[in-house]
Amino acid sequence: MPIQIAPNVYWVGAVDWNVRNFHGYTFQTHRGTSFNSYLIVDDHITLVDTVMWGFEEQMFRRIAEVVDPARIEYVIANHGEPDHSGSIAAVMHRAPNATLVHSKRGSSSIGKYQTGGWLERIVGSGDTLSLGHKTLTFLEAAMLHWPDTMFTYVPEDRLLLPNDAFGQHIASAERFTDEIDQAVLWDEARKYYANILTPFSSLILKKVAEVQQLGLQMDTIAPSHGLVWRKNPMQIVEQYVQWASGDHQAARVLLVYETMWGSTETLARAIMEGIVQAGVQARLLPVPQTDHTTVMGEMLEAKGILVGSACHNRRPLLHISAIMEDLIGLKPVKKLGAAFGSYGWSSGAVQILEKGLQEAGIEVAQPALATTWRPDGSDWGQAVAFGRAFGEKVKAAVR
Ligand code: FEO
Repeated sequence: MPIQIAPNVYWVGAVDWNVRNFHGYTFQTHRGTSFNSYLIVDDHITLVDTVMWGFEEQMFRRIAEVVDPARIEYVIANHGEPDHSGSIAAVMHRAPNATLVHSKRGSSSIGKYQTGGWLERIVGSGDTLSLGHKTLTFLEAAMLHWPDTMFTYVPEDRLLLPNDAFGQHIASAERFTDEIDQAVLWDEARKYYANILTPFSSLILKKVAEVQQLGLQMDTIAPSHGLVWRKNPMQIVEQYVQWASGDHQAARVLLVYETMWGSTETLARAIMEGIVQAGVQARLLPVPQTDHTTVMGEMLEAKGILVGSACHNRRPLLHISAIMEDLIGLKPVKKLGAAFGSYGWSSGAVQILEKGLQEAGIEVAQPALATTWRPDGSDWGQAVAFGRAFGEKVKAAVR
């Protein structure tokens, strides 16, 4: 069923209840997702974004409940990834006279994924398109999260259609953020930001400032995944600013580690005790038992990150190495970190982890803790002290 999100603007997207591993990489979509497409019924009927290829029939069914899809005159492609542009060819086939509208950089991405020789219009920031009673205003939003990304704004409805920004991976029968459990909503919004948008934090701050300067008012923010923000939609913008600035971070430490014979795990528990003694919260996440998406979601709001590993072939174990690769790519802001681990015949793992923290832009707050074989009472005490010292540094840094 199409859902009206503003006068004569309908959600006509698709829900994917099954997907758990999105984009074919490590993003675990624990609650599925949706691909949101919006139909604007005006003198010139317009579709803003399409849906993932394979889901076009869901979209067409919803469009057809409002208008004949053949009447679509404009298709706005805010971003070229196939989860939003994958059904452009199917739409253009049904509406062969429609014009495809995208950013200049969209010519590369959309042009490579979709080739059709359609009518096209390239737009940039500040360009407008009159649909009759409503106007579309375009705002380029490069790297939020692709170079081709743009936002579409409808001033008459104070409606922002920002594509991937402000989304959540949630499959649901509800369409608005105020209709679902708020803990679920924010858990998914946090994981979404942490795993997709963290590397672009400085650009987010600039884009929000630009939007504020332009004086764009928003009653509704309708992203391309998950639910639509209609009650106090600025709450997600304000939250993005906090996440992007790093200023929200709690006096909390995330300990993420991989153990072999249990020694690194013993150290992790001792370190956690020390952190708690310092009056700081601790989250202990073993890998591979915990997936990357959850780890990065927890990482976002923790001021401190401790990374631990046993040593194998003079290197950290594989799953924690992959976590480190993720951190290096995401480059979280304003974090403190340190490494720890146990080794037997050969050392080297903690040094590699420490180097990884530096490469991720995380300030190494204290030297790594490395113990040998099975931790004894003295190692336990050393690890508690290590955790307490790190906790004190985290506490001081969030004051
Ligand atoms: Fe939801 Fe960048 O695709």
